[in-house]
Amino acid sequence: MVILLPYEPLSPIRWHNGQVELIDQTRLPGELVVIRPRTVEEMWDAIKRLKVRGAPAIGIAAAFGLYLAVRDSRAASRAEFESELKKAANYLTTSRPTAVNLFWALRRVEAAVADAPTDNVAALKEIVLREALTIRDEDEATCRAIGHNGAPLLEELEAVLTHCNAGTLATARYGTALAPVYYLASRGKLLKVFADETRPLLQGARLTAWELHQAGIPVTLITDNMAAAVMSKGLVQAVIVGADRIAANGDVANKIGTYGLAVLAKEHCLPFYVAAPASTFDLSLKSGEEIPIEERDAAEVTHFGLKPIAPAGIDVFNPAFDVTPNRYVTAIITEKGIIRPPYQENIPRVLQGINFN
Ligand code: MRU
Repeated sequence: MVILLPYEPLSPIRWHNGQVELIDQTRLPGELVVIRPRTVEEMWDAIKRLKVRGAPAIGIAAAFGLYLAVRDSRAASRAEFESELKKAANYLTTSRPTAVNLFWALRRVEAAVADAPTDNVAALKEIVLREALTIRDEDEATCRAIGHNGAPLLEELEAVLTHCNAGTLATARYGTALAPVYYLASRGKLLKVFADETRPLLQGARLTAWELHQAGIPVTLITDNMAAAVMSKGLVQAVIVGADRIAANGDVANKIGTYGLAVLAKEHCLPFYVAAPASTFDLSLKSGEEIPIEERDAAEVTHFGLKPIAPAGIDVFNPAFDVTPNRYVTAIITEKGIIRPPYQENIPRVLQGINFN
């Protein structure tokens, strides 16, 4: 697929002149700042603080983080190198618990090293870097395929509602939930997008609205509590979101507030689509109840930026994600095809490439 847009969506992660470059997403939309983490600790911090965020992007960043950890290794043997790699991988897993792409990418780099037919430490370092680059490039191709596969579900619609940011900024490029929107735009069909602002960290307002606006795609920003009104007025004909982890039964963990949207979509007889790559599925978990949900700092809720908006010392509950039960999910759009219920049966079939849709 060739995407030709007025503004090609930016890639938020690249390897350039021997350095990892990340768009610092905490500075958007005010400033477009590129940061260059030099150590695994700096990459851990970038992930933890959401400078890089979104499930696939977190996985890519973690893979590069592993390279930063071992780039200057003085390991005297392959065993020592692999143990340093394992230590760095374990450390990176402590940055954010919910998006399984992070764990998947780390495992993938470790496996590439374990399978390498060499004991030469310099060659093993190269393998780590090459695997990180491959994960990045494959993610871009995966997002394109999600765009291609999802487009037929949306092409007759006027507008969709999305939540958080599952766009180009959350992936290597093009996004997951926004990939079909970009795909259709490249074919001359401009679908309108209603973007939930996404409290408390405003990924919808700061990132989704920004990137769609940059790309010349019509986007309307709403606060989260306006979604029901938008649906009841018939302003959107579907909801499409990304995912951080999908269990074997099709339960979907995504940004807090997604579950509420799914319930609202059902009430308004609107399809509720989830777009995600195969790397977001965790078939080791039977249901969404087993998905670890990150809880973040209370200050994200009690403050708006640096300004307090609640009484000091108030109790706060701040889960970053919720789980949408599979019964609300109309279909899951993946790079391998569209998965429809019953998910328990159809997820493995589609992911293994037996696409019967
Ligand atoms: O906390 P964030 O900003 O990392 O949360 C991101 C989301 O919930 C996205 O919807 C999800 O990771 C899918 S990104 C393609």
